[in-house]
Parts: sequence; C-alpha cells; structure tokens
Amino acid sequence: MRNNPGAGNKKCSVAIDGPAGSGKSTVARKLARRLGYTYVDSGATYRAVAYKVLSSGLQANKDADEIGQVAGRLCFEFRDVDGQPHLFVDGEDVEEAIRTPEVGNLSSPVSAIPQVREHLVAAQRQMAKDSGVVMEGRDIGTVVLPGADVKIFLTASVQERARRRQQQLQEKGIYRDLAEILQQQQQRDDRDSSRDLSPLRQAEDATKIVTDGMSEDEVVDLLEKIVRQAEATKE
Ligand code: DC
Repeated sequence: MRNNPGAGNKKCSVAIDGPAGSGKSTVARKLARRLGYTYVDSGATYRAVAYKVLSSGLQANKDADEIGQVAGRLCFEFRDVDGQPHLFVDGEDVEEAIRTPEVGNLSSPVSAIPQVREHLVAAQRQMAKDSGVVMEGRDIGTVVLPGADVKIFLTASVQERARRRQQQLQEKGIYRDLAEILQQQQQRDDRDSSRDLSPLRQAEDATKIVTDGMSEDEVVDLLEKIVRQAEATKE
C-alpha cells in the first residue's frame, strides 16, 4: 500500500534536473501524479519557443532580441489530456509538435539566449507559485527554484540515455539510428553544460541518482520516499 501524507504534512516544491535522456520527464510526471502535485516540464517551454522560431524564419544565432520578444509574448499552461500533461501555448496544444528531433535540436541554442531564459524562468516560477509542484529541467535547483524543498539530480550513462531516447522516439513512430542519437545527444549535452548562462549543473544540495539498471518505478518509489520525508519535516 502507498503511503499517503498524514494530516499536517505540508506539500513541497520538488526540483528535478538532469541531462537529456536521463528519464527525468517520465519519472517527474509519474511522481507528480502519485503525490497529487502540479507537474511543470520547463524544457517544454524552451521547445515551444524553438517551435515558434522554426515557423517564423528567425535564426537563433542572429535574432536573439526578436526571439526573446517571442518568448515574452507566449502564454504557457499545462493541461491534462487523456491523463497526460500537455503543454498549451496561447491556448494551442503543442505537445506533439514540440517533441520532434528538429525542435529538440533547435531548443538548445534557443535556450542559450539570455532574453529567452529571462522570460521563461519568470513563466516557470509563476507556474510553481502554488505549493505542491514537481518541476523538471536543467537549472531548476540552481536558478529557477533555488529554495526548493527537494532537489534531485537524475542521470544515467551516455549509452543508456541514448537507448532510452531512441525508444521514446520509436514509440512516437520516429526511427533514428543509435549512433545519430548519441552524436546529437553529445552535442546537446556539451552545449547545455558549457553555456555561460545557467548551464546544466548539479545543485550543491541536490541528491544525485544514477538510474542505470533501475526501472522507472524503482526511481519513482525512491523519489516518493524522499519527498514524503520532506513533507513530514516541512515547517
Ligand atoms: O528537457 P528537454 O530536452 O525537453 O529540453 C529542451 C532544451 O531546453 C534542452 O536543449 C535544454 C533546454 N533546457 C534548459 O536550458 N533549461 C531547462 N530548465 C530545461 C531545458
């Protein structure tokens, strides 16, 4: 039987960071559902800006100000569709459109634009303003929610992450070579970790979990235990 929070337990803010393919999205989603918390996928907001950029003719390496303005105008909301959280931008369900490899690749240079980060960090904090939130990304524990009650850094070996990414894409009917995924993932990891602004980095007070050899449910069980303990001791 699952532990439910006892009377008096307070809801927490949970920051989950990690590299692409670490499994954090699925795990964060399941964890939020179990806890009855709001789920916020911060990466989806960067993908949404990249998606808008793709159809606008703007270029990530040249049009930083214009892309920043696009980011500042968008209105984000996560809504449940058939039991799954979907990102809606200005009322449009963009969940499927933002998951293509093209959008994924462009989201990395787009996320390195300071004007974009400024607007999206503000939007993400706004989505986390009510207690009981699981937010996942790259800089949640370090920048977006530095005061989060629980900070997790989720990672896995490079090969394991590429295999998982390939499987996720296959489930969407997109077939890609493992070597191609490995190469793109490495490029994104390098860019995301080496950029000056909010690079992917483990917060000093985060718990690091390496998920190689663990099932999704095992990871969720472990995280739920950590959050339940935090709920029980939260002032
Ligand atoms: O997690 P994801 O693959 O959906 O993220 C898409 C891109 O956005 C990725 O290149 C990293 C970037 N990102 C970021 O810079 N900061 C975040 N908090 C989340 C994602």
